[in-house]
Amino acid sequence: MRTGVVIIGAGPAGLVLGHLLHRAGIECVVLERHSRARVEQRIRAGVLEHGTVELLTELGVADRLHREGLVHTGVELLFDGVAHRIPLRELTGRAITVYGQHEVVKDLIAQAEFPIRFEQGALRLRSDRAVETAEGVVEGDFVAGCDGFHGVSRPFVEASLRVYEREYPFAWLGVLAATPPSAEELIYALSDEGFALHSMRSPTITRLYLQVAPEERLEEWPDERIWAALQRRLAHDGFSLTEGPILEKGITAMRSFVVAPMRHGRLFLAGDAAHIVPPTGAKGLNLAVHDVKVLADGLRRWYASGDEGGLAAYSDTCLRRVWRVQHFSWWMTSMLHLAPDADPFTRELQRSQLRYVVGSEAAATTLAENYVGLTGSP
Ligand code: PHB
Repeated sequence: MRTGVVIIGAGPAGLVLGHLLHRAGIECVVLERHSRARVEQRIRAGVLEHGTVELLTELGVADRLHREGLVHTGVELLFDGVAHRIPLRELTGRAITVYGQHEVVKDLIAQAEFPIRFEQGALRLRSDRAVETAEGVVEGDFVAGCDGFHGVSRPFVEASLRVYEREYPFAWLGVLAATPPSAEELIYALSDEGFALHSMRSPTITRLYLQVAPEERLEEWPDERIWAALQRRLAHDGFSLTEGPILEKGITAMRSFVVAPMRHGRLFLAGDAAHIVPPTGAKGLNLAVHDVKVLADGLRRWYASGDEGGLAAYSDTCLRRVWRVQHFSWWMTSMLHLAPDADPFTRELQRSQLRYVVGSEAAATTLAENYVGLTGSP
């Protein structure tokens, strides 16, 4: 089979790229190793930057997002037992939208007018233009590796990559609970026991996270223990955490990871295939969407006139934003978690930093503009 762009992976990166290319009249096919049900049910983060919502709207796939998504104009930071609101809209003119990543994926799949082949099993890159599937080889002008951290695209070029990496001495235990959110906004908390986050998916579903040790196992966390830890870590005046049935729980390791360059001949890496951020800044999906927007622009220029300029700049353009987001995610993570070996000096630096962020408009704006998504390329 022959096509224009072979896209590996039906996550947010691959699917948004498919929509962008289809809209530009560029032929593509998406190859996904798992089933449609599996990619539509994978629970991930749920914060969309202003610019991500704009792009999904432009693509015509945001009707449900606008109906069901929860627009948040602020977030709360809780430390030393007191919550402080960062007024995102007041400080930046922009807001975020809370809407599950898997809901975005469902919408992108439902409205795709380009082929998506699910259940492809183990895929293999034959070259930077051809991918081997169980049903034969799919060949294109380009391959877009949008197949995540554990995909096959990055290993294909691993030998020529520079890798930047940081692991954190903690993980997140995430739960989805059938109970209305206990506050209107997200609450990022640092307590003497470590980090906790109150988030949500809908007026009836709460999403909560707890910092745990990376080697901890779910069996050690029965529901009662999770609720008790959340109650302690999120406690503050005027707040009462409503408990309910836990629908889903999982432990996620935290790491920062970047490879460079993101292009190898005609293979382009995008999203988690090229970089991972810890979830504290809620940036993973948003960064992936930025990559494929840059890629689609470059491909459009190439198909329109043979102009290589956009594609030649792809890696540098993406990495500029990748590193800004890496810094923000690392900063949020360091500020809000208790490292097991943290000494009193480090703890006081954290508290001072938090007091500064909520007490200075300049510092609050730094958090806010990164959180809603920077425009331009600072
Ligand atoms: C989520 O709702 O899943 C969520 C929200 C904020 C984060 C990470 C995850 O920083």
